[in-house]
Amino acid sequence: MFKCFVSSWAVPGRRYVTKVLVNSNMAQIIDGKVISQEIRLKLNEEVAQFVNAGNPQPHLTAVIVGEDPASEIYVRNKMTACKEVGISSETKRLPATTTEEELLQLIGELNRDDSVSGVLVQLPVPEQINERTICNAVAPEKDVDGFNEINMGRLALDMEGFVPATPLAVKTLLEHCNIETFGRNAVVVGRSKNVSLPLAILMHSDGKNATKALDATVTICHRYTPPKELAIHCRQADIIVVAVGKPGLITKDMVKPGACVIDVGINRIKDEKTGNDKLVGDVDFEEVRQVAGHISPVPGGVGPMTVTMLMYNTLKAAKKAAQNASRKSALV
Ligand SMILES: NC(=O)c1ccc[n+]([C@@H]2O[C@H](COP(=O)([O-])OP(=O)(O)OC[C@H]3O[C@@H](n4cnc5c(N)ncnc54)[C@H](O)[C@@H]3O)[C@@H](O)[C@H]2O)c1
Repeated sequence: MFKCFVSSWAVPGRRYVTKVLVNSNMAQIIDGKVISQEIRLKLNEEVAQFVNAGNPQPHLTAVIVGEDPASEIYVRNKMTACKEVGISSETKRLPATTTEEELLQLIGELNRDDSVSGVLVQLPVPEQINERTICNAVAPEKDVDGFNEINMGRLALDMEGFVPATPLAVKTLLEHCNIETFGRNAVVVGRSKNVSLPLAILMHSDGKNATKALDATVTICHRYTPPKELAIHCRQADIIVVAVGKPGLITKDMVKPGACVIDVGINRIKDEKTGNDKLVGDVDFEEVRQVAGHISPVPGGVGPMTVTMLMYNTLKAAKKAAQNASRKSALV
């Protein structure tokens, strides 16, 4: 059975909130796999058109330092997605003993290589390497992860640039599911520099500007938000996005009926029934789906969409490089 919540108000020249359909028993599942697949098909067509127009095939180079098993899986998924959308790709593997200098040298080579459209260094890097130095070393125009301080700064100033893939994934899922954000209350749980902070920027900034942000009223909660306060903030929210890494952090009593809950968290836990490892998010999915209007599952929610947004960023980098090359040759 569906309930129809109707509310509307007008802001000159801006969007209206009209109605939100909510299943009164169970939340609608935001299927990141299916939505991702649709977007990857479109990206595949766009890549083909780009190449058929005489441009070089977009290319993504990933760098892994060390042998973190999770990083291996993430990079493998990214390489598979590249194949799906027609982007060529390569993974460069460096030993865990690699120095910062050696990694910077490789990044410099990739920055100078015109056949490389996008460069990503899979995080985390070993402790002898400074993560910020590495993120800043990737050329801003090849920084498809959006972690360079120039792209971060551009996002903060609502300017065109590369937006990190996970925040972009959350935005795309919200838009795809027609979740109203304009003037709505949103809570972002987490304040990390690579995920939650850029996400909070994207959620609250002005939709009229280059980043086409979401115009929500955003509250950021983090490890020092007392649990009672976290619950109070979450209960006010029309949209909750949680990126913490704590299974079961968001429970049913913390969610306003009909709210949209996006779970970014990825946690590996033991399945009590089978004894095998399984992936869960930060939200108590089975409980929260009974009150939420929409909910994204883990796995199969934000994860696949994050990889898809990396593909989007890589194609964007290739298109910009082609534009710059044709501008340069016109000047000669
Ligand atoms: N789905 C994806 O594509 C994707 C991408 C990146 C990260 N992740 C996952 O998202 C989660 C967060 O990633 P990250 O890189 O931001 O992690 P992080 O460790 O850098 O940040 C965690 C954040 O959670 C906050 N926090 C910790 N305990 C809290 C509590 N009790 N209440 C409220 N806030 C609390 C901290 O203040 C911190 O800002 C992880 O599980 C990670 O695996 C998923």
